[in-house]
Formats: sequence, C-alpha cells, structure tokens
Amino acid sequence: MRIFVCGMGVVGRAVCELLASRGPELRSRYGVPLTLAGVSDSRAIVLAGSDSAELDPLAVVAAKQAGKLGTMEGAMPAALPPRELAGRCQTLGIDVFVDCSPTDLKTAAMPTERMLAMLALRIGVVSVNKGPLATAMPALLEAARYNQVQLRFSGTVGGGTPVLATGSTLNRGETVTAIRGIVNGTTNFILWKMATERWAFDVALAEAQRLGYAETDPTADVDGWDAAAKVVILANAVLGIRATVQQVSVTGIRGVTPERIASAAAAGKVVKLIAGASAAGLTVAPQEVDAAGPLNTSGSLNAVEFTLSSGAVVAITGRGAGGVETASAVLRDLIDIGTMR
Ligand SMILES: NC(=O)c1ccc[n+]([C@@H]2O[C@H](COP(=O)([O-])OP(=O)(O)OC[C@H]3O[C@@H](n4cnc5c(N)ncnc54)[C@H](OP(=O)(O)O)[C@@H]3O)[C@@H](O)[C@H]2O)c1
Repeated sequence: MRIFVCGMGVVGRAVCELLASRGPELRSRYGVPLTLAGVSDSRAIVLAGSDSAELDPLAVVAAKQAGKLGTMEGAMPAALPPRELAGRCQTLGIDVFVDCSPTDLKTAAMPTERMLAMLALRIGVVSVNKGPLATAMPALLEAARYNQVQLRFSGTVGGGTPVLATGSTLNRGETVTAIRGIVNGTTNFILWKMATERWAFDVALAEAQRLGYAETDPTADVDGWDAAAKVVILANAVLGIRATVQQVSVTGIRGVTPERIASAAAAGKVVKLIAGASAAGLTVAPQEVDAAGPLNTSGSLNAVEFTLSSGAVVAITGRGAGGVETASAVLRDLIDIGTMR
C-alpha cells in the first residue's frame, strides 16, 4: 500500500518513524506492505520518482529535522492546487493520503478540498486533521461512499485511545444512543488544577502552557472549539447524525470561577468541560459531574461514556493526545484499509 503523508510535524514524523520501525512486522502479521511514496510540509512536497519507487521514511524525518526537506530529490514547492496534487498522487500509484496537517476550523476549506480531490480519484484518506471533518464531515463521508473508497479518522478523537473504535464496536451489538465525555485534555488539566490546587483559571492556564499542554494561543481548547470538532466527529461516526460544527452549542471554560468549583465540590461533584451528542443535539459546556464517576479524570486524561439502547453505559479512559499515540491510530487505520483490499 503506497502512502502520502501530508504534514511533517510531531504526528507526521511519528508516522514515518513507525513505518520504519514497525513496517516489516506489520507486513508479515497482516500481509500489508506500507510504502512511503510522498510527503509534504507547509513549504515543500517530496514525491517518489515513479510508481514503483519509494521514499526512505527515516531519511525524510532526518531531512525535515535538518530543515532540508525542500532540497531532497523529488522535492517541489508546496503550492500545487488540490486537484493537481491528487493527480500526481494517482500517477504515483498512491493508495492512501494521510493528512497530518494543522487543525484550523477557520482555514479548513483548503484541506477539505484536498481530501475531496483525493477521494474523487479513489485515493483513500486517513486524517488526524479535525478541521475538514468538523466543517464538512457529511460531504466527506458521502464522497467516500460514492467513490467506494475509505475515509478513516481514528486519531482525531482520543489520540491513541480507541474512542471511535469503541463506539463502532458497541454499535454492532446494540445501538449507541448518546455520547458524553471529556475529549479535550488541556481544559481537563486546567479544571483539575483549579479544583485540586484551588488555582484561578489564569494560573492554571499558564501552567498548562508551561508544560506544553496548551498552545500559546489557547482559544481552540479553552473556548471549546477543539471539543466541538470532536463531538461532531463522534456524532457522525457513531450516532449517524450528519452534523457540522455550526450545529454545536459551544461554551468554553473561561467563565468557570473558583466559587463554582468549590460549590460543586461541596455537593460531591467536579466541573468538567463535557462534550455531548444525542438526537437532542450537540453541546460542549462546563458541567457538574459526580466526583466518584468515570468522568472525573485527573490531569489531561480523556474519558468518554457511551449510552446504549439497553440503558447500559460503557466508559473508556485514556490519554487523548501525543505524537506517537496519534501516529499509532494512523497505523491502525492504514492496516484496516490494507486488510480490506
Ligand atoms: N500532536 C498531537 O498529540 C495530536 C493528537 C491528535 C490529533 N492531532 C492533530 O494532528 C495534526 C498534526 O498535529 P501536530 O502536533 O503534528 O502538528 P505540528 O507539529 O504543528 O505539525 C503540523 C505540520 O503540518 C505542516 N503543514 C502546515 N500547513 C501545511 C499544508 N498546507 N500542507 C502540508 N503540510 C502543512 C507543517 O509544516 P511546517 O513544518 O513547514 O510548519 C507541520 O509540518 C493536527 O491537525 C492536530 O490537530 C495532533
């Protein structure tokens, strides 16, 4: 299976490293040979020389780290329009386009167009970029269905923790009727520090930034938009609700006061940023949940509860991010696609 990896940041480089370290084992265990045939970052595209040539994943990572991706053999400026890039991928026999480029809900139109161009040429897509899925998931799912090609996105929710796979598995025996949980580690860390250390929001945010959990611009996390993107993906993939981020009612955590946290604690509760999806709608908002329940996770841990048609509730907890963890979710998707062919 020939792969193009778009985005050479933390996740894209980890995907290349896993291709190098686990490729032979995955080939013998699943019969799926994973071959790197193209990569890109914001400035350069590097393509294998022919439809039988390949790129060395570790050489790509080394070149990227040395700032020399654009001088590798087969490199060209990254300014190819989406359809032209898809055409080149088709000519090179690329089977799956892996999108590890940045999530930005405001500029999701371009990566969405790129994914649609790939799907139209029957090139499968694996994405950890949440932007296209949050803003255009119904259209992307329809394009994949129409072109009979795979669109996978395991790493978009829960990083390496198989939240989406758990939802799909549960759907086989019963129907998942509602989902709620913590899908953003940064806000969980902040609320957890506010509760356990009695810090003010600004102090907890500064600590999250110091530890690298929060970006310099924390808007996507603290204002709830990252969680909103993930609840859209969960709703489409697990509940079959064809929604986009515009349909989510979003409230972030900036307005959560130490007083609210203290009064929650007095009632045996904790305040968490809860993403919820059901037939009643999609929401992201701070809510009081039981301190003794599965949603009271510490640090930056994620936790998601699935309510089944029988009334049973199943919860999954784990790390929601991390380059290697997210890259491992990409590999799971690639193996799934490879074993279906
Ligand atoms: N890191 C995690 O733990 C994690 C977990 C789950 C999901 N994700 C998602 O995974 C994606 C990548 O995350 P990351 O942490 O690897 O980000 P990152 O370190 O910021 O890397 C982003 C990469 O994308 C490249 N890029 C930017 N614009 C591009 C374009 N138009 N075409 C091709 N490449 C482009 C950047 O190029 P330059 O190097 O030239 O700047 C960079 O190499 C994001 O969508 C993120 O939301 C990340």
